[in-house]
Amino acid sequence: MNIKVTVNGEEYEREVRPDRRLIDFLREDLGLTGVKEGCGVGECGSCTVLIDGESHLSCLTYTPQVNGSEIKTIEGLEEDGQLHPLQEAFVETGGVQCGFCTPGFIMVGLELLEKNLNPSRQEIRKWIEGNICRCTGYSKIVDAIELAGKKLREEGKKIEL
Ligand code: FES
Ligand code: FES
Repeated sequence: MNIKVTVNGEEYEREVRPDRRLIDFLREDLGLTGVKEGCGVGECGSCTVLIDGESHLSCLTYTPQVNGSEIKTIEGLEEDGQLHPLQEAFVETGGVQCGFCTPGFIMVGLELLEKNLNPSRQEIRKWIEGNICRCTGYSKIVDAIELAGKKLREEGKKIEL
């Protein structure tokens, strides 16, 4: 099938098999290896990307389903070599250890902060419940999302997905 997608602001037109998983298309065809495969069956959230501003599991999405969509992966966040404030917050709080789960947490974190720059810790915990970290426990990850929201509020910035 012929598909057209915009990924991290770049347009792509490709031939794909109907059963080509989005995670494989992104990692293997486009080289976006920041998208991580943990479980491959929709349980861990490591493969989360934003499709038209909403988080989706790329291991459970077939590439033809995203025809005409705009996709954002972790690679699309930095600007002019500068990490996104949420990425910086993960580094600052120690929310990254092996880092395998981090792209997924950052994509869902962005989605939450786009809706609400001042979520409570409980709201953050609830929002990230579909994502699994095998290293850190979750407190530092919650800290990171909370800190990024605080910094963005102080700087009068918003998240646009
Ligand atoms: S790899 Fe997609 S949910 Fe685990
Ligand atoms: S930092 Fe290693 S799995 Fe989360």
